[in-house]
Amino acid sequence: MAVQKTKKIFICSSCGNESVKWYGQCPACKEWNTFVEYEPEAETKNAKGWSAGKISPEVPPERLDMISTDDEIRFATGFSELDRVLGGGAVKGSLVLIGGEPGVGKSTLMLQICRSLSQCAGKVLYASGEESKRQLKLRADRLEVSSGNILILAETRLEAIFDTVEKEQPDVLVVDSIQTVYKSSLSAAPGNVTQIRDCTMSLLQLAKSSGIVVFIVGHVNKDGELAGPKIMEHMVDCVLYFEGERQNAYRVLRAAKNRFGSTNEVGIFEMGQKGLSEVVNPSEAMLSGRPEGAPGSCVTCTMEGTRPILAEIQSLVAKSVYGNPRRMASGVDYNRAMLLLAVLEKRAGLPIGAADAYINVIGGLRIDEPASDLAIAVSIASSCRDKAVRSDTAVFGEVGLTGELRRVNALEQRLNEVARLNIRRVVCPEAGGLPLKTPEGLEIITVRNLREAIGACLEQE
Ligand SMILES: Nc1ncnc2c1ncn2[C@@H]1O[C@H](COP(=O)(O)OP(=O)(O)OP(=O)(O)O)[C@@H](O)[C@H]1O
Ligand SMILES: [Mg+2]
Repeated sequence: MAVQKTKKIFICSSCGNESVKWYGQCPACKEWNTFVEYEPEAETKNAKGWSAGKISPEVPPERLDMISTDDEIRFATGFSELDRVLGGGAVKGSLVLIGGEPGVGKSTLMLQICRSLSQCAGKVLYASGEESKRQLKLRADRLEVSSGNILILAETRLEAIFDTVEKEQPDVLVVDSIQTVYKSSLSAAPGNVTQIRDCTMSLLQLAKSSGIVVFIVGHVNKDGELAGPKIMEHMVDCVLYFEGERQNAYRVLRAAKNRFGSTNEVGIFEMGQKGLSEVVNPSEAMLSGRPEGAPGSCVTCTMEGTRPILAEIQSLVAKSVYGNPRRMASGVDYNRAMLLLAVLEKRAGLPIGAADAYINVIGGLRIDEPASDLAIAVSIASSCRDKAVRSDTAVFGEVGLTGELRRVNALEQRLNEVARLNIRRVVCPEAGGLPLKTPEGLEIITVRNLREAIGACLEQE
């Protein structure tokens, strides 16, 4: 949007909409309380080029078919889980943003990947604005990271970081965190949208012009919507979110944007005394400690990118003592869970309209896939009827509003994964046909609607 150049403008930290007026609700993205003051100081200086004549590009345009792609160089980060999320390793000259809540383990992950990057990429410069050199050294000792190729710089001024980059010529730069670094030429405080935008833009130019891999750490608040990372998402090449409950050891790394690979992939890590370690067999980890024969628990198989992962969904349906029943969903979409409760009440005749319902995915995993609908519904039905689903049963299928079940994709991969984890029965929709090769010893019960599925899961001895 063209905005008349005034001294100050306001900008939506969620969608980047600019305005000369402050709004409580953004007219474009309808988010509340996202407008913040922005000083277009840096932009007005650079903006002269648009109005005052022409500038020749440094590199002339090139024919698309003549552009060479041979120089896409990728570095292994030392974690195959992270490499997969990045689309096969960190790309030379790329800008990667790692966002996450405070204390989730962002700095730990960064320091651990520095070890491998210092071996395969070259010199690594770790600029920390949050911790002193001593603190970083203590962490590095705990994580057993030590290398003559890793330089630590405790600095918050971006100009000083750039100066060090020029002198030391590193191959990888880590900025921890973008909320603490600032450009002294701008009057805005560190962490302000103005600073974050300008600093990210400068880091982007650095990555593109010098071929350095730049990792930026960004904080996200409890609601996942801090001004910083959201506004940076448009600029960077990859956005990775590091998620997980503080009290739970599992951490999930998810790609929200990736210019060099798929955004569906997730990496699963476990936090321990010696830092993060990869979870090689996530299905096994997610199912460990599962209660046998407990009502309300149901196993499903969800596709996270190209990888099938088994997950346990638990529900608790209890008589409500309040006028308005309480509903809570963790790890699954709240609205989707409410929709399933309504379908269960109307199409399967379960009396849950006035009951409290709590739904949770074990292990801190978040499931967005419609194929997990049936498992959520079955776990609710199991708790409501106080009857357990057999522990060697896995359930998947998408539930429609009429209670019908829709086929799921990647059925063969899911069946192979459940068979590997000693599941002997699968309840899934009939539609779509079964793959020709089903794993040996796996009983497949096909169902057409929610009633049949609940019958197959709960009414068998
Ligand atoms: N001595 C320790 N033993 C085991 N785990 C530890 C130890 N010290 C820290 N941790 C783990 O590391 C986590 C903090 O990691 P880290 O500092 O990398 O997080 P962060 O996301 O960078 O946090 P911040 O937002 O404060 O920068 C803690 O929540 C804890 O789980
Ligand atoms: Mg940190």
